[in-house]
Amino acid sequence: MAAPGCLALRLPNRKAFFLVFVSLNVRFLCRAALRNDRPIIGELLWTFIASQTRHQPSVRKCRVIMIMSESSGLQTCLCPSGVLSQELSHPNQSSYIAASYVKFLESAGARVVPVLINQSPEDYQKLFLSINGILLPGGGVSITSSGYQRAAEIFYRLALEANQMGDVFPVWGTCLGFEQLTYLTSGKVELSHTNTSSAALPLNFTEDAKRSRMFSGFPAELMAALASEPLTVNAHQFSLAITTFQSDEALKNFYRVLSTNTDGSTEFVSTFEAYDYPVYGTQWHPEKNVFEWTKPFYPHSPSAVKTSFYMAEFFIGEARKSFHRFGSKEDEDKALIYNYSPVYTGTTSAFEQVYVF
Ligand SMILES: *[C@@H]1O[C@H](CO)[C@@H](O)[C@H](O)[C@H]1NC(C)=O
Ligand SMILES: *[C@@H]1O[C@H](CO)[C@@H](O)[C@H](O)[C@H]1NC(C)=O
Ligand SMILES: *[C@@H]1O[C@H](CO)[C@@H](O)[C@H](O)[C@H]1NC(C)=O
Repeated sequence: MAAPGCLALRLPNRKAFFLVFVSLNVRFLCRAALRNDRPIIGELLWTFIASQTRHQPSVRKCRVIMIMSESSGLQTCLCPSGVLSQELSHPNQSSYIAASYVKFLESAGARVVPVLINQSPEDYQKLFLSINGILLPGGGVSITSSGYQRAAEIFYRLALEANQMGDVFPVWGTCLGFEQLTYLTSGKVELSHTNTSSAALPLNFTEDAKRSRMFSGFPAELMAALASEPLTVNAHQFSLAITTFQSDEALKNFYRVLSTNTDGSTEFVSTFEAYDYPVYGTQWHPEKNVFEWTKPFYPHSPSAVKTSFYMAEFFIGEARKSFHRFGSKEDEDKALIYNYSPVYTGTTSAFEQVYVF
């Protein structure tokens, strides 16, 4: 992240004298970042630089929201419950969002609203009309009967209806969210067990990836890196086998497969986008490359970080096409994630920080 950030700095001329010193430091940090893909950079310098940068003109407001997952699933997608050792300690705090998803969306210019589980359909309908897209995060809850699934289903149906009427509303599923999408589209759980609970993999792009919406804005070098380097974090024990996908008419007619992967025996769908709707899914985790550090196999190289950013930038680009908005500034202020503070859980869970609700 340091290298592009350094290039983007624009410092006012009248501070030139002092800035010679700063820019030398910046250049040093940039070079350090290129050498070392795990830089730890002191906050003080960056805070100072941030205060010196010119104000950017405000871009079109964009809000994207997320469904929250339930407390029993802090580890990986569709884990059997035995693996889920990380119960939250507060009995009344029954759901969470990993902060990495929030940062992922914020990194591309969105503001985030948490979608609480177990709200009424009327509340979800109202929220749907207030926000510009939804991200279904990874986690470890049921995709057929959970608060997560019920909320996801409502937003998915509302999104399909709205999009049919020209009211753009993108839906993104990551890991469990991807699996949730396959269930919502097909009405069936058709996942196969795979040995993919902790692996970073290159993407095996399909021919369709070249004409996809999702990857059309990616630089050619990044596509080459994605196809050859292990830049995508897989943390799931179940997958949609390509043979299953091809034999399911509902899935095959709805989604264009953009990449596959294999665990050595089962080839599975790793990225898809819907043909006729702004519905997207990755079985892998674009947000972890930048914001999670709890597992040694998470990639943090410059290409890994760019992968994360371009995925976020694509999704937020879709969300910018939505005209939904809150009825009032007060309603918007009350709904934003800024009303909550993440807690550091990096020593006890798979996530560095989580929001608990
Ligand atoms: C949990 O909620 C119940 C009912 O609202 C309350 O009586 C109880 O004190 C709460 N427990 C904690 C630990 O906050
Ligand atoms: C699962 O994959 C890992 C590599 O990611 C490999 O080391 C391990 O042997 C595999 N296990 C099985 C049962 O195939
Ligand atoms: C990539 O996908 C193609 C088409 O599905 C498949 O034939 C091939 O074996 C895959 N290659 C790898 C390395 O997984």
